Amino acid sequence: MKKHLNVGIVGYKFMGRAHSNAWKKAPLFFDIPAIPVLKAACGRHQESLTEFAENWGWEETETDWRKLIARPDIDIIDIALPQDLHYDIAIAAARAGKHIFCEKPLSMNSRQAEEMLKVCEENKVTHYLNHNYRRTPAVAYAKKMIEAGKIGRIFHWRCAYQQDWIVDPSFPLTWQLKKETAQAGPQWDLNSHAVDLAHFLVGDMATVSCLTTNFIKERPLADEASVGNLSAQSSGTEMGEVTVEDAALMMVTFKNGAIGSFEATRFASGRKNRLSFEIYGSKGSLTFDLERMNELQYFSREDENGDQGFRTILATEAVHPYANHWWPAGHIIGYEHAFVHSVVDFVKAIEGNTSIKPDFSDGLKIIKVLEAGIQSSETKQQVSL
Ligand SMILES: NC(=O)c1ccc[n+]([C@@H]2O[C@H](COP(=O)([O-])OP(=O)(O)OC[C@H]3O[C@@H](n4cnc5c(N)ncnc54)[C@H](O)[C@@H]3O)[C@@H](O)[C@H]2O)c1
Repeated sequence: MKKHLNVGIVGYKFMGRAHSNAWKKAPLFFDIPAIPVLKAACGRHQESLTEFAENWGWEETETDWRKLIARPDIDIIDIALPQDLHYDIAIAAARAGKHIFCEKPLSMNSRQAEEMLKVCEENKVTHYLNHNYRRTPAVAYAKKMIEAGKIGRIFHWRCAYQQDWIVDPSFPLTWQLKKETAQAGPQWDLNSHAVDLAHFLVGDMATVSCLTTNFIKERPLADEASVGNLSAQSSGTEMGEVTVEDAALMMVTFKNGAIGSFEATRFASGRKNRLSFEIYGSKGSLTFDLERMNELQYFSREDENGDQGFRTILATEAVHPYANHWWPAGHIIGYEHAFVHSVVDFVKAIEGNTSIKPDFSDGLKIIKVLEAGIQSSETKQQVSL
């Protein structure tokens, strides 16, 4: 019989659901060296926590994360909470010898990220930062194509992460819109994913210039019902100040000579979760759009003159990473699958005593870029990394 790894999850809304699904599905579709057990779910409100636990099959509940971490039967702590809570929980979990599966962005600042990395390394626990988009078959295949030299020398990275869930001024002042819980707006939330992809596909950055703006200064206060609800509306009249930016534009130089741009916003009406990137190189180009996540657009300068043009690669064939564990070619997969792939690789890393990327060292590198962006927007100067 395979070994079991007991998971304790903290947080049970959007990411709590996405992670629960992944822990369950991973051993059903992939042959992994240990079986994750949904052991205990943790949250502050017993009633809704119990409902969540029963729905997803978590065996037990805890209302104090310190108690969860103190339990000797827990092997993995899954942090599915806002980023202001990642630091304390990750540090305590690492000191208790638990492996950590942590949501992005890693932390509120680079000082916290450095400490989180150090404590994980000292305690030799496996640490994973959930930039799940790396693990879509199309993006993972894009990486293979770049490594195989099909794009050649990269000149341009052009990335936009666009959403529209706060265009309505009656959308309440949730934790994502307050500096004390989120640190920043799309610069932290969305550009963390985008910067991770840029590090993964293009390389490390040298300089950052950034512009941020805020379109709506005040919003109605949020109530408990709006937690985890990205289409919440508030009928309340009491207002609070929005203390993060609403949009961020970054321009960067990469150490390898490429240049790049990042646009991150929650004000792009009609764009629901559009993470798109374009890579232009000396031999060819690649483009990706998360809203069509099974596809990759590829242009090769080596195609015959006259036949050249972007072609669509449907990344569902056995040769595409992860794809052969799901359905026959052409039978597409969705948003939740990349979380399953993350769990698969995380469990393999724990059992194989290897690291998994991205980890907290990558998270630290990302936070340094995001911080440089905020610094640049405040000083109106380019910042060197
Ligand atoms: N990987 C991704 O693509 C992705 C997508 C969305 C969110 N995230 C990240 O996941 C994390 C959680 O985001 P979410 O969308 O699930 O948020 P959410 O608002 O849906 O859920 C947050 C959870 O944290 C709990 N919580 C809030 N404050 C708490 C406190 N003080 N003590 C205990 N519990 C508390 C809430 O009750 C809820 O269960 C964030 O860091 C976010 O950036 C990642």
